[in-house]
Amino acid sequence: MKKNSAKDIFQTYQAQTFKYPSLLNIDHCKGVYVYDTENKKYLDFVAGVSACSVGHSNKRIIEAVKKQIDKYYHVMVYGEYIQKPQLSLAKLLADNLPKTLSTTYFTNSGTEAIEGAMKLAKRISKKSEIISCLDSYHGSTQGSLSIMGKEFYKASFRPLLPECNKIIFNDINSLDNITNKTAAVVIETVQGASGFKIATDKFLNALKEKCKSCNTLIILDAIQTCYGRTGSLFGFEQTTIIPDILCIAKGMGGGMPIGAFISSWGNMEKLSHNPKLGHITTFGGHPVNCAASSATLNYILDNHLVQKIDAKEALFRKLLVHKKIRSVSGKGLMLSLDLFSENDTNNLVANCMKDGLLLFYFLFNSESVRITPPLTINEEEIELGCNIILRNLDTL
Ligand SMILES: Cc1ncc(COP(=O)(O)O)c(C=O)c1O
Repeated sequence: MKKNSAKDIFQTYQAQTFKYPSLLNIDHCKGVYVYDTENKKYLDFVAGVSACSVGHSNKRIIEAVKKQIDKYYHVMVYGEYIQKPQLSLAKLLADNLPKTLSTTYFTNSGTEAIEGAMKLAKRISKKSEIISCLDSYHGSTQGSLSIMGKEFYKASFRPLLPECNKIIFNDINSLDNITNKTAAVVIETVQGASGFKIATDKFLNALKEKCKSCNTLIILDAIQTCYGRTGSLFGFEQTTIIPDILCIAKGMGGGMPIGAFISSWGNMEKLSHNPKLGHITTFGGHPVNCAASSATLNYILDNHLVQKIDAKEALFRKLLVHKKIRSVSGKGLMLSLDLFSENDTNNLVANCMKDGLLLFYFLFNSESVRITPPLTINEEEIELGCNIILRNLDTL
């Protein structure tokens, strides 16, 4: 059998994880638009699943990446040599975080940030139980999978980590599961995979109290909320929680691969002894990606993008009214269009793509559609995309 088309090569030589990928064949991207190899233009309401926070081919990121590549792109594994792009980003993060979140370990991805945070929590607390929420998503490597809140994606990979237990998101009664044996609770302020459910203040306050009384650390998974997506740089600033360990990734790189876990200097220092080299990575904190991440954060700060999120959310909510829409949930530019059936979801995503708008699914919620455009999207583009959604809802 001849296998020459891009689709054939993709499906034969690239490992597949899904039977029905959309097979959009990408040529180039610019701003809030993605162009396929036929030069068809798509308005991007997905942004690489929240990663391309400052739009595609952002000039500041490209310049930062090129400048760094011209100097050097890899010299040494994490933590041995002093590299300016890492210093600049670590300092920039500390300047924009509370004093207790001063010290950063750079990783390759979100899931590695979670792995590092779980290991660090064990070292700090000298305990081993990790608690997370039902319906939570923290990544796909074995530690993160162990704390995932959906058995469907875990069963075939068991045995996973022992002593991983659950609480129910927004259910204060379930906090009884947190005890003196619990090293850490891993929590999202907006659940990324279940349709952007928001943690209530009441729940987070009760969680904070419970963790304090049990000497349990709070690990905040801000991987999808950072930088700025919900209307504050990391997401937790809109709550009363300051985590003991903060995990970030995705939008942090503006489309380049980087993550981090962040804590106090005193906590982080524990990774340097008993054993030394408590977390090892070759490419974590890659200088080119650190340069991209600093450019992303500076671009967001300089253009006051965080301050503009509420108005953009309000416009989406004003426009997205239709009898086929049950509700619009989520926060900021992390919005979920809740429909009435899986069929509607599948048809809307497929039909909008034909009509030049990219939407996407949720991992754990088949009746909702993800809307996470670049934070740079303007009013006109929001209106254009919402009109495409409304006219395609009419035809369902
Ligand atoms: C909330 C949350 N945590 C963790 C992760 C894992 O990040 P990564 O895919 O970079 O490993 C994701 C990715 O979607 C996420 O949304």
